[in-house]
Parts: sequence; structure tokens; C-alpha cells
Amino acid sequence: MKIEASVALVTGSNRGLGKACVAILLERGAARVYAAARNATSLAPVVALDPGRVVAIELDVTRPETIERAAAQATDVDLLINNAGTLASFSVLESGFAALHADMHANYFGPLEVARRFVPVLARRPQSAIVNVLSVVSLSSMPGIGGYSASKAAAFSLTQSLRAELAAKDISVHAVFPGPIDTDMIRTFDLPKTHPNDVARAMLDGIAAGEVDIFPDAMSKDVSVVWCRDPRAIEQRFARG
Ligand SMILES: NC(=O)c1ccc[n+]([C@@H]2O[C@H](COP(=O)([O-])OP(=O)(O)OC[C@H]3O[C@@H](n4cnc5c(N)ncnc54)[C@H](OP(=O)(O)O)[C@@H]3O)[C@@H](O)[C@H]2O)c1
Repeated sequence: MKIEASVALVTGSNRGLGKACVAILLERGAARVYAAARNATSLAPVVALDPGRVVAIELDVTRPETIERAAAQATDVDLLINNAGTLASFSVLESGFAALHADMHANYFGPLEVARRFVPVLARRPQSAIVNVLSVVSLSSMPGIGGYSASKAAAFSLTQSLRAELAAKDISVHAVFPGPIDTDMIRTFDLPKTHPNDVARAMLDGIAAGEVDIFPDAMSKDVSVVWCRDPRAIEQRFARG
């Protein structure tokens, strides 16, 4: 998928990795970027990056009517980046069911609903792609964030199903498995983190190169190598925290 001259839509683009994706898409010559967020007024600094190419759009992945409106407005999208996500639940034994449901809603049902509404849009374009931002914990659960891990594992399974079902429509489907990123989501976690701009650059490199599974930082690359050889070793590493 060529990034230059593409028309992208990025969910959850008012901050964090989503905002970085918009900036790097512009850097790489995207023709237009629909910056989507549940609160459109929060997008002013993102539109200011390039008011001629960035279009603010309201989209809450847990509110189907906003997704439907976005798909009716952004009819020229050829690169859909499902980035929006939450980290609301932690230990599977101790987190409340509302928090467990919230992560499943935003991280699994949300991207599914967005993909369903945008497939007809993408299918009309000569080349198109869906990119799902997953996590290294999609591959193996990290018990301290076990509820979130389950939602990201479900999103990995969703990505595989979409890839198989959309092959006939020539829509490529990419999975991104980042390690820790320096964003609000893990602001209080004391561990090495990658800058969101570097993750966004590696994501777009992977998409442009046609990689289906993208490991966009040093930690995730290391996890992928060990996981391919010995998935149990990653389960044990993550269990140690
Ligand atoms: N940070 C990490 O270490 C890390 C590692 C691996 C994967 N990821 C994944 O990377 C993606 C981006 O996360 P981030 O690190 O940039 O986190 P972040 O700074 O917390 O940003 C999350 C973004 O998702 C949006 N969002 C949350 N719920 C939404 C909803 N219902 N509808 C639409 N947008 C919603 C937020 O919008 P509001 O401002 O309205 O809340 C915000 O724009 C997520 O999928 C996350 O799971 C993050």
C-alpha cells in the first residue's frame, strides 16, 4: 500500500499514537487525512498540522451512529487505521466487569464495527488497507493487564478473520504489535517506552512494504523472535511482569 497520495482515516487521533500517525502520514505525502476522535473539538491542534489536508471527524468507536456518519462523510478513504483504544481493566480476577467490558467494547467490538462500515468504502478504491493497532499482549497475556490483554487478543483474532474474508476484495489487513509507547495510556508505568512518532514511522514503513505483521519497536521485535520459536517463553516472561 502506497502511503504517498493515500487518503487515510485514523481513529483516536487527538492524542498519543493516533496523533503521531496523522503527523507522519502528512510527512509521507498523504493526500488527505481524516483525523477522527470522539470529541471533534479536541482535534484543533491536529488540524493545525496542515489545515489543507487534515479533516476533523467525530467518531466514537463504541457509538455505531457516529461510525455510520463518518463512513458517509469520508467516502474516499483507502487506508483505515484502527488506532483508538482503552486500557481500563487490569487483573482478570480483580477488575470490575464494567472495566473488562469497556476494554472489550473499545478494543474489539469498536474496530470490528468500524471495519464493517468502512469495507464498502475501501472496496471501491483501487488499492486499500485496514491497519489494526494491537499490542505485544495480543500474542500472550500480561496478567497485570489481563483484561486489556484479552481484548487485544480478541482484536488479533478479528484481524486474522478480516484478512481472510477481505482477500477476495483485495483489501490488505495489517496487524501492528507495539511494545510500550510513551503516551497517556501508560503514563504512570515506569518502564522503557518508544516515542509515538517512531512507532508511527515504523508502522507506515511496514504498511508500505506490505508486511502483514508489524513489530514497530525494539521490544516488540525481540518478543516476535522469541514468540515464533517458543510462545511459552513469552508467557513466562510476561507473567513475571
Ligand atoms: N501506549 C502503549 O504502551 C501501547 C502499547 C501497545 C499498543 N497500544 C495501542 O495503541 C493505540 C493508541 O493508544 P495510545 O498509546 O495512543 O493511548 P492514549 O494516549 O490513551 O490514546 C488513546 C486514544 O484512543 C481514543 N479513544 C478511546 N476510547 C475511544 C472511543 N470509544 N472512540 C474513539 N476514540 C477513543 C482516545 O480518545 P479520548 O482523548 O477521547 O479519550 C485517544 O485518542 C491503542 O489501541 C492502544 O491499545 C498502546
